[in-house]
Amino acid sequence: MRDRAEGLRIEGKTISFVPTMGYLHEGHLSLLRIARQKGDDLALSIFVNPAQFGPNEDLSTYPRSLEKDLELAEKEGVDVVFVPMDSSLYPEGYQTYVELEKLPAHLCGLSRPVFFKGIATVVTQLFNIVKPHVAVFGEKDFQQLAIIRQMVKDLKFDIEIIGGPIIREADGLAMSSRNAYLDESMRPAALSLSRALARAKEMVRSGIIDSERIEREARAILSAFPDIAIDYISICDPFSLDGVQQVRGKTLMALAVNLRKIRLIDNTVLDPE
Ligand code: PAJ
Repeated sequence: MRDRAEGLRIEGKTISFVPTMGYLHEGHLSLLRIARQKGDDLALSIFVNPAQFGPNEDLSTYPRSLEKDLELAEKEGVDVVFVPMDSSLYPEGYQTYVELEKLPAHLCGLSRPVFFKGIATVVTQLFNIVKPHVAVFGEKDFQQLAIIRQMVKDLKFDIEIIGGPIIREADGLAMSSRNAYLDESMRPAALSLSRALARAKEMVRSGIIDSERIEREARAILSAFPDIAIDYISICDPFSLDGVQQVRGKTLMALAVNLRKIRLIDNTVLDPE
């Protein structure tokens, strides 16, 4: 991969890159389409990164479908798919990790203490191997995108980071590889996340900007489903991720729940303008 990247760079080609954990869906494909426009050579990585899973999380059952993923990648015009082994990225004796000080102390980082350290570390490794000029990440994982942007800035990676919008099912459910765990009976509960966000947008549009009031409404919508355990409902500054008391200007509203142990997240930007 590194030799290939070096060769392309010498030829003056621009490399664009979409890192994933596979089990590709339309959300991933939308990022590939953005990346395709941004470079001459499009790289995709598929790696279920053990470093970003906690001990009681779903690493062993995380959905995988390499053959189908490779077919989809080919259809999207991907030039190279990088599928490293665990032992290539984390050989015996591996000991270097990338950690941010502030951004992980919010939202998903609170209940998943190793998550963003694992992500920053693997993305650093992937950047060093794939050597992209441009990398595309989804706004579905808003905090991840913020952390990658900060890391690229702090560590002076010469890489342009682009965010792609959240792709949803027709009924509003944000696409996710983990949706494979959902059965039909869980659908109404899963849909309550996007419904709570839509309701918040409506409230802000009608002039209600008090965070506590909007959060209370979201809590009621989610809590109507006994299978849902709320991890967080946050209305916060989209850059620092610090909570705000009122929605003034563009403000992030982010949700995370466990639906019978399946972790679902969603977010939207609230804007009173
Ligand atoms: P994964 O969950 O496979 O997601 C890969 C990329 O697809 C991420 O940038 C994510 O934000 C984006 N994505 C997922 N669902 C989306 C949707 N519905 N709409 C738009 N984009 C969506 O995120 C990871 O993998 C990993 O943490 C990774 C960055 C690869 C590091 O291991």
